[in-house]
Amino acid sequence: MISGQKTVVVTRKLPDAVEKKLKSEFAARLNTPDSDYSATDLIELAQGADALLVTVTDRIDAALIEALPPSIRILANFGVGYDHIAIHAARARGLTVTNTPDVLTDATAEIAMLLLLGSARRAGEGHTLVIEDKWPGWSPTFMIGHDVTGQRLGILGMGRIGQAVAERARAFSMEIHYHNRHRLRPELERGAQFHESPESLFKVSDFLSVHAASTRETRGIINRQTIRLLPKGAIFINTARGELVDDEAVIAALESGQLGAAGLDVFAGEPHLHPGYRRLQNVFLLPHLGSATVKTRNKMGFLAIDNLSAFFDGKEPPNRVA
Ligand code: DGY
Repeated sequence: MISGQKTVVVTRKLPDAVEKKLKSEFAARLNTPDSDYSATDLIELAQGADALLVTVTDRIDAALIEALPPSIRILANFGVGYDHIAIHAARARGLTVTNTPDVLTDATAEIAMLLLLGSARRAGEGHTLVIEDKWPGWSPTFMIGHDVTGQRLGILGMGRIGQAVAERARAFSMEIHYHNRHRLRPELERGAQFHESPESLFKVSDFLSVHAASTRETRGIINRQTIRLLPKGAIFINTARGELVDDEAVIAALESGQLGAAGLDVFAGEPHLHPGYRRLQNVFLLPHLGSATVKTRNKMGFLAIDNLSAFFDGKEPPNRVA
């Protein structure tokens, strides 16, 4: 196989099964100690290599792409979101870029539901209270949360993950509303109510869950103006990207009660989130766990390998984004 001769630089430690397969198919330069590679390290490691297998933690900006040796022909991303890669610069250099959609849809939708339930029913606060031995005991007025059943869930971005969240939320009798660039076919919509604009969606969202890619159009879409459109006390869920959010606005709204609670798995500047979140009680925060299950991470790795193998075998990679 031609791909057997190719050298792939892998920027992070990957699951064992994935690394085993990488080693069997390529001359893989693995990052076994999971070191934090700088741009300079990456450029050095890329010398004489044919491909980079990158993750959301690598900042593949235009300057880095420019500095890569000409031998690098493909960037295979381990993840569905590729906002950390300067796609225009990659295209301009004739680099192929691939991602790993579908395989992480269910795992991410599970985390969205966990955040939705956890933030509405105050699971984070409750857990901390019990662990810290500060539980005063049951009482009729103790730690009252928000109903989920029968509430309106607004989904901003009704792609694969948005649809998977809708499917799970229907089991909680939630009324599904959504905004998407294109209205879905009725068999995918499954009774969900389409809104032509995000503004119209925000007005009816007792819960708002975002599932949009981070692009020039969506960055900062959750801000002071849009939060004001939500019903008072609405609950905000983010498993997409922290860059969609103006953190100051979300924190101010959580303090004033305009937002009742927030469940967040992703943050701008991860892992250094805005310190204001740590002062709040009405947040349920996770450290970017959306796709973090054994099966899912293995599938993501195998799909990245499929993309590399197809490319080096002269075929169209199944998940080409540039
Ligand atoms: C994704 O796939 O985009 C996840 O956020 C992990 O990178």
